[in-house]
Amino acid sequence: MPTHSSMGEESTLVVASAPGKCILFGEHAVVYGQPAVAVAIEQRLTVSMTPATSWSVDGSALDANKHPHITMLRDIWLNEAPPMALHISGDIPRASGLGSSAALSSAVGAAMHHLAHPEKGIDRDGLSALAHRAEAHAQGGRASPMDASTSVEGGVVVLSDHKEPIGKWIYTRQLTTPEGKRTWEVHKLTPQQDDIYLVLGNTGVHASTSKQVAMVADALAADPSRMNEIHAIGTIARRGLAALVQGDYEAVGHAMSENHLLLRNLGVSSPELETLIRAAAPSSLGVKLTGAGGGGCMVALTREPKQTSEAIELAGGRSLISRLGNEGVRLEP
Ligand code: MEV
Repeated sequence: MPTHSSMGEESTLVVASAPGKCILFGEHAVVYGQPAVAVAIEQRLTVSMTPATSWSVDGSALDANKHPHITMLRDIWLNEAPPMALHISGDIPRASGLGSSAALSSAVGAAMHHLAHPEKGIDRDGLSALAHRAEAHAQGGRASPMDASTSVEGGVVVLSDHKEPIGKWIYTRQLTTPEGKRTWEVHKLTPQQDDIYLVLGNTGVHASTSKQVAMVADALAADPSRMNEIHAIGTIARRGLAALVQGDYEAVGHAMSENHLLLRNLGVSSPELETLIRAAAPSSLGVKLTGAGGGGCMVALTREPKQTSEAIELAGGRSLISRLGNEGVRLEP
């Protein structure tokens, strides 16, 4: 694993990588316990750690305000250890709804845990619990374990407020949010292989997940009857999940597009997202925003990835293509 530099610098001690995620169904509603489905995408974040004279991240001093997730993990795993220089690279666009912050927590956590306990393998349960804690901290106490679990586990991750008779149940997560205590049952699925792709369209507009989540919380507080919209997203997520389990991708796409209309009504879309969604729709089985919305990315489920990706680029977006369900966090050789 260690690599050697020819310049006489210290050698890298560990390299770990973790995937981003794309939510197919249920963003926002999952914060209130409704079912949701996310897939690990091909795009990954990689961290390498090299001994140094002080802690740093890509050349800047490690700073608890700038790097809260990394500082939290360092304090847990390597508080007493000699300092390290972290180098972060990868192809997950930041602040775009593709789970780059959870991927950072899971890759850095896996690397630091390996340095602290080289004899132990990756503790996926413990690591995803820590990554969820970091997300909750960053999102004002309102965060589902979706991003953290998908980046750590890989494949397809399903959340619900009760155990579902699908895939493999892996663990329970709980969080006390400003609206009360939430419980999520986390499951993992392996998608049926098919000639099917996700094309992600990035608007290039950065939106804050915590602001988007707080906006939905405020809308529900102002008009509690809007909780019906949250339940309707849950119903569609359940339908989409059943279609995914059966490998019926036409029905999966249909449910994605329906999910988008509900998210738009909830107020979390944006003109830029709508432009990319309109452009991708003709060559896709389904289209929706993915993640917290307000900017960030949309996703299209398609059998024509090149055509869909060109349509997104022509409409002013940046596109990424991924198969469904990729490997979770791993140590790199
Ligand atoms: C963000 O990727 C997804 C949201 O549902 C927030 C969360 O689940 O914590 C908007």
